[in-house]
Amino acid sequence: MDLFEYQARDLFESYGVPVLAGIIADTPAEAKAAAEKIGGTVVVKAQVKTGGRGKAGGVKVVHNPDDAAAAAEAILGLDIKGHVVKRVMVAQGARIAKEYYFSILLDRANRSYLSLCSVEGGMEIEELAVERPEALAKVEVDPIGGIDLAKAREIAIAGGFDDDIADKVAPVIVKLYEVYDKEDATLVEVNPLVLTEDGTVLALDGKVTLDENAAFRHPGHEALEDAGDHDPLEAKAKAHDLNYVKLDGEVGIIGNGAGLVMSTLDVVSYAGERHGGVKPANFLDIGGGASAEVMAAGLDVILGDPQVKSVFVNVFGGITACDAVANGIVKALEILGDTATKPLVVRLDGNKVEEGRAILSGANNPLVTLADTMDDGADKAAELASK
Ligand SMILES: Nc1ncnc2c1ncn2[C@@H]1O[C@H](COP(=O)(O)OP(=O)(O)OP(=O)(O)O)[C@@H](O)[C@H]1O
Ligand SMILES: [Mg+2]
Repeated sequence: MDLFEYQARDLFESYGVPVLAGIIADTPAEAKAAAEKIGGTVVVKAQVKTGGRGKAGGVKVVHNPDDAAAAAEAILGLDIKGHVVKRVMVAQGARIAKEYYFSILLDRANRSYLSLCSVEGGMEIEELAVERPEALAKVEVDPIGGIDLAKAREIAIAGGFDDDIADKVAPVIVKLYEVYDKEDATLVEVNPLVLTEDGTVLALDGKVTLDENAAFRHPGHEALEDAGDHDPLEAKAKAHDLNYVKLDGEVGIIGNGAGLVMSTLDVVSYAGERHGGVKPANFLDIGGGASAEVMAAGLDVILGDPQVKSVFVNVFGGITACDAVANGIVKALEILGDTATKPLVVRLDGNKVEEGRAILSGANNPLVTLADTMDDGADKAAELASK
């Protein structure tokens, strides 16, 4: 889960990372009030979960509350790389002497953490990484050892800091690592980390990604979620604990096991090429124990997608045998009643396949078609979706 800048700021502050005052505002009037409260020069900043806000006109420095209202007026509603600005943060203005870059992130390939650091921070960090990669230090961080003051200094020196500035930056790096570690983040990025004219180090912008797999350790993280940001179908699936990802096609997909579902997406995409270019409408893995309730919840989510024209249920019976899955489908269609209106192609294989097919044939539901193989099922479902 990515956080908004203002959420990252609040989190930083709670760990003692030096930040400036920041107040969120949803309207120009609120922005004006926030600017009055903070006083002096403020920066009105678009709160969207994408980079490059400054270049897109989403960061404006103003010197009085009326101008803050005008800046908010201009920024609210702005489309930044497909993200519409609904909220701004009014931040206290800093007198910047130097802009630096620091981040710590999960390095999956090396099963480790990686820290990036440069004295040349600011808005062009992506270009710096491409054009002069040597100016962006990459320092491995041992997940067991973490970052203590000595390690933080090593990172700062590698990033090109002079000794005296490294001494000022290192304690901030230690605190940023604490945020990363204690909050189970997979990314903490500060760009820019600045040195002010009076010699203090401040985190002026923050990007934080929290590991959702660790959510059970952090009851507070749920409140950070942006309810308005979720696809309604994904939200519904999440409420049922389903592993669902909305895609852009017409063939709804249900399978058990992520690997099987992914190959089902491939096979359906391929079959779709023969049927007017139809594509999979979603990824949905109902997991091992496909009870009637889980099947009903899954079908309910998929049938609620107006783009879906047909559904392909592709299940390989293992510990949960095909007869249980078939009973699940029959009961699910009973539970859904009139709301189930789209054709279902079902392919069952594996444990107790004959029993499963017999149950579905016996139920004789006009919406259900049985397929013998995965290819046949994909072809049939794609054909139904193209009509
Ligand atoms: N509180 C502040 N006071 C003074 N200047 C600021 C402040 N916040 C940001 N700036 C200036 O605006 C620039 C852009 O701000 P920021 O880094 O937050 O946005 P961005 O880099 O464009 O966005 P993103 O990080 O999403 O790409 C900074 O590099 C800095 O020069
Ligand atoms: Mg930035």
